Amino acid sequence: MSSLVRKNILNITPYIPGRPIEEVKRQLGLKDIVKLASNENPLGPSPRAVNAIKRAILKINRYPDGSCFYFKNALAKKFRLRAENFICGNGSDELIDIIIKTFVEEDEEILTADVTFLEYEIISKINNRQIITVPLKYFKYDLEAIKRRINKKTKLIFISNPNNPTGTYVTSYEVEEFFRDMPEDLIVVLDEAYDLFVDADDFPNSLSYLNSKNIIIMKTFSKSYGLAGLRVGFAISRPHFIQSMDRARPPFNVNTLAQAAAIAALEDKKFFRKTKDTILREKRYLYGSLDKLGIPYIHSVANFILMDVGRDGMAVFRDMLKFGVIVRDMKQYGLKNFIRVTIGTHRENERFIKVLKKIL
Ligand SMILES: Cc1ncc(COP(=O)(O)O)c(C=O)c1O
Repeated sequence: MSSLVRKNILNITPYIPGRPIEEVKRQLGLKDIVKLASNENPLGPSPRAVNAIKRAILKINRYPDGSCFYFKNALAKKFRLRAENFICGNGSDELIDIIIKTFVEEDEEILTADVTFLEYEIISKINNRQIITVPLKYFKYDLEAIKRRINKKTKLIFISNPNNPTGTYVTSYEVEEFFRDMPEDLIVVLDEAYDLFVDADDFPNSLSYLNSKNIIIMKTFSKSYGLAGLRVGFAISRPHFIQSMDRARPPFNVNTLAQAAAIAALEDKKFFRKTKDTILREKRYLYGSLDKLGIPYIHSVANFILMDVGRDGMAVFRDMLKFGVIVRDMKQYGLKNFIRVTIGTHRENERFIKVLKKIL
């Protein structure tokens, strides 16, 4: 019997997320698990967000505010823009889908890098859209090569900046060059899921292109704000693009608790400072420990580090799992001898280094 499923769906390799803590506990009978696999915030959620959720919980008999009125106004205040510049999503994952649905016709193409965030490719394929990938150069997006690859069919370009899973970034100079003489019939999406961890002076100010270029900037509350489990992200663009994207958006896509928590988290400066300080300090600790172990790694401006473990990364992932440490193997990304490790608390990072030493 034929499977009745569309061919493009059968051709998709599903996204494999980091293993959940509870699942690993259950399967391996372990109690104390350290999860460094999904680039989450190791300090927990923003406390202000938790309090906001407690206040909002008695309202969940009602549908959420489909227009995200207060949330968009809070974003507008924070970014000194207008509410019309924002669209909110059930995680930025959903926004990738909405962007593709809104802008890419059947015979048009999407461009991105190889290796980058896998969802660009998966969501393109779910929507039966062609995606072309351009190899990284020294683990970085090669914007010159991507620009050369643009043709009449190109409609969208996804740039993960910083890039997941390498942790590298394209500079303000590179972005400026990229936008110079860029055709006007395509849209560039800058996915800045990790921008708040960046400690580099030449990281681009993408908002400066908002009114002059066809650009959509995506950000998320899953990383620096510690709200991955709530699923909330947003995109910034010109009102014309936002209105069009709103047509492809499910009516109640951001739930009541997520909206309340995100508004509160935006103002939680203390939590954000602590998060960033922890990540930068612990990144130095991990670099130092990896240097001592002679394990090569890519310098990262995000909250994770891609490292070359010199043998099958999947085997390293499995061996570490037995000791209760969940990291991410890079098989799906085509980086066989690599693992990606999220920067955790000091205790978590020490445990990771200890187990790595033991198994290598
Ligand atoms: C580059 C990048 N973009 C988007 C996302 C999705 O984030 P969200 O949790 O907002 O869907 C991730 C998550 O890992 C990511 O790494």
